[in-house]
Amino acid sequence: MRDRVVAVVGATGAVGQEMLRVLAERRFPVGELRAFASPRSAGTRVVFAGREIVVRALDAHAFDGVEVALFSAGADRAREWAPVAVRAGAVVVDNSSAFRLQDGVPLVVPEVNPADAHQHRGIIANPNCSTIQMVVALRPLRDLFGLRRITVATYQSVSGTGARAIRELERTSREYLAGAAETREVYPRPIAFDVLPQVADIGADGHTVEENKMRDETRKIFADSSIVVHATCARVPVFRSHSEAVVAETERPVDLATLCRALRSAPGLVLREEAGQYPMAREAAGRDEVFVGRLRGSADDPRVVSMWVVSDNLRKGAATNAVQIAELLCQHAAATGEAGRWQPRS
Ligand SMILES: NC(=O)c1ccc[n+]([C@@H]2O[C@H](COP(=O)([O-])OP(=O)(O)OC[C@H]3O[C@@H](n4cnc5c(N)ncnc54)[C@H](OP(=O)(O)O)[C@@H]3O)[C@@H](O)[C@H]2O)c1
Repeated sequence: MRDRVVAVVGATGAVGQEMLRVLAERRFPVGELRAFASPRSAGTRVVFAGREIVVRALDAHAFDGVEVALFSAGADRAREWAPVAVRAGAVVVDNSSAFRLQDGVPLVVPEVNPADAHQHRGIIANPNCSTIQMVVALRPLRDLFGLRRITVATYQSVSGTGARAIRELERTSREYLAGAAETREVYPRPIAFDVLPQVADIGADGHTVEENKMRDETRKIFADSSIVVHATCARVPVFRSHSEAVVAETERPVDLATLCRALRSAPGLVLREEAGQYPMAREAAGRDEVFVGRLRGSADDPRVVSMWVVSDNLRKGAATNAVQIAELLCQHAAATGEAGRWQPRS
């Protein structure tokens, strides 16, 4: 595979920093790396593969010559700058919610729907972090027994809100323990030593934006709008990794031994099945896999399965998934001899 000119937009953020690490760790074929952030960070430095890169603000020529642009700078920036990058000839992999549900924009989890990546028209969307780990865990179940309904409760870490929220948990934890007033900037209620049953804004239907994302994105990734998804998303005082209690209802009765065999061999997944063992957030932090444990059937209904699903939201939930998508594109270009034809012709 030949080296590519790669841009990371949001390079100073929680996800962007992880993207730089993941690109280097996975030896993505980077010829040149450009790091972009807000004008506030212009001139500061980030580290990529042991080298310091000067951070730049975006401008009209930022993407000239760029082939892969990994965006993690929020939806507004994506709406404004992703089309600029595409016009310059780049393929954009965007981590925000800006394009996820748009027709013609593939929403891709490489372990679940890799072929969709090749249907892009310049932009590919990375799903929401909570959705990614859930669909990786549910794909083997769905393939074997069909999937009708998902009821999920999430326990999401503060890094899912970004770098400022990480600092808010650190700071307010110290303030709480010292008996001082807590200085909140990010969350609507205290997050230290408590559980916030609200991730993102609550809409007129009573669901939060995050809960609706889990529903809509899961249906798009599985290409099945009949799946019922009912989510309750909570923020917990954990720095890294989201945990989820997932209850799935299948079309056919589930044989747990068959499901365990499929989960053991599923790509990107680790099944914890030893007695008394289950995955936890700190263990998953810094790892790329989705961890599944507490797998059990229902005594009342052979079509119901429960599991505990944990994964690092900054890695598989964002950076790793985005880099994997870019790898799919490189592999496809190399396999089809289309190295010079990076974007599909419309
Ligand atoms: N955190 C997660 O687990 C997660 C998971 C999946 C998807 N995402 C999505 O990824 C995106 C970034 O999330 P994050 O958690 O990394 O947030 P973050 O830590 O707040 O980082 C935001 C990044 O965007 C940059 N930025 C802000 N305004 C900009 C502008 N005008 N031009 C260029 N860059 C600008 C920031 O630069 P400065 O440092 O200069 O402000 C920073 O690098 C969001 O869309 C989020 O929804 C996050």
